[in-house]
This record gives sequence, structure tokens and C-alpha cells, in this order.
Amino acid sequence: MKIFLVGFMGCGKSSLGGEVARRAGLGFLDTDREAERIAGASIPEIFRTRGEEWFRELECHIIEGLPEGEDDIVVALGGGAVCREGVMEMLSEAGTTVYLKMSSESLFFRLAATERTKRPKIAGMDDAQLRDFIETSLAVRERFYELADIILECDPLTDEQIIEQILNLVKQ
Ligand code: S3P
Repeated sequence: MKIFLVGFMGCGKSSLGGEVARRAGLGFLDTDREAERIAGASIPEIFRTRGEEWFRELECHIIEGLPEGEDDIVVALGGGAVCREGVMEMLSEAGTTVYLKMSSESLFFRLAATERTKRPKIAGMDDAQLRDFIETSLAVRERFYELADIILECDPLTDEQIIEQILNLVKQ
């Protein structure tokens, strides 16, 4: 079983996905960490020295390898990774795609509490710019996320409840 977690940056794909994998005894892969491993550099360094286009190509390369990769795995995909034509469909064929859906307001509170320099797309933004960025990008990206096989409305759920819901999927 392959579970692909998609959604906007900050929705918890990596932290919650890692916990799901640990509890279910599945493998775990985070496309951002994989990109860093291949590039031998952090995401901010990749963006700074090679540029976003280069990062997106590497991301593409990683995603294309997922269908043939390890079975029984939870994969956390970077927020922009599935926002290209055909990617969601390809992942749906290879496994189950799950959208961790959150409102822009919730995403703002979660992202505002993190170290913004770790995410080049929001590095250096003040709160007003961050709010604006989230609303604008989510409006563009959501049509891709909404192609997921399962859409989990996360706003009313605690992290523990989100983990349990994903674990239920794994058990089915
Ligand atoms: C990005 C999201 C990040 C990472 C990169 C770009 C994006 O992943 O891939 O900073 O464009 O949304 P997370 O969604 O894990 O933060």
C-alpha cells in the first residue's frame, strides 16, 4: 500500500505522515528530504544556488520514481510537487492520494509559528505578506490537491485525530 499525502506547505504532511508510518510499520519518504539528499544541500540552498526550476525538475524526477519504488510506504509530497498536470492522476494509479485540507487561516497560524527561512517561498515575508501568499497560492493550487482520492477536512481535527484517520485508511 502506498499512501501519498498532499497539501499546502505547513499542513503537516511530513510530521503527521512520519508518525503514521512509524505506528503502522510502513516506510516513510519525504520528497523534500529526498531532494536534499540527492542535491547534497538544504532546500533553501538549492533554491539559492540552483534556482526553483532546478528544484522542480529534481522534484519531478523523484515523483516519477515513486510508482516503482518501495511498496508499503507513506510519502509526504512537497506543497508544490503535485501542482503540475498529470501528477495527481499518476499518483492515484500507484496508490491512495490523501489531501490534508486546511483553510488559509489555519495554514497561516501554523506557518506563522514556523521558521520561515526553511521555506524559500515564504522566507523574509511578514505576517501580512504571508497571509496574502497563502490565499493567492492556495487558490491556484487547490484544484490539484482536490483531485485526491480522499480529502481530509483537517480544520476541526487535532493532529492525533488526523493521524488516526490516516491510520484507518491504512487498515482498510
Ligand atoms: C514548497 C513546499 C515545500 C518545499 C519547497 C517548496 C512549495 O515543502 O518543497 O520549499 O512550493 O509549496 P512543504 O510543503 O513540505 O513545506
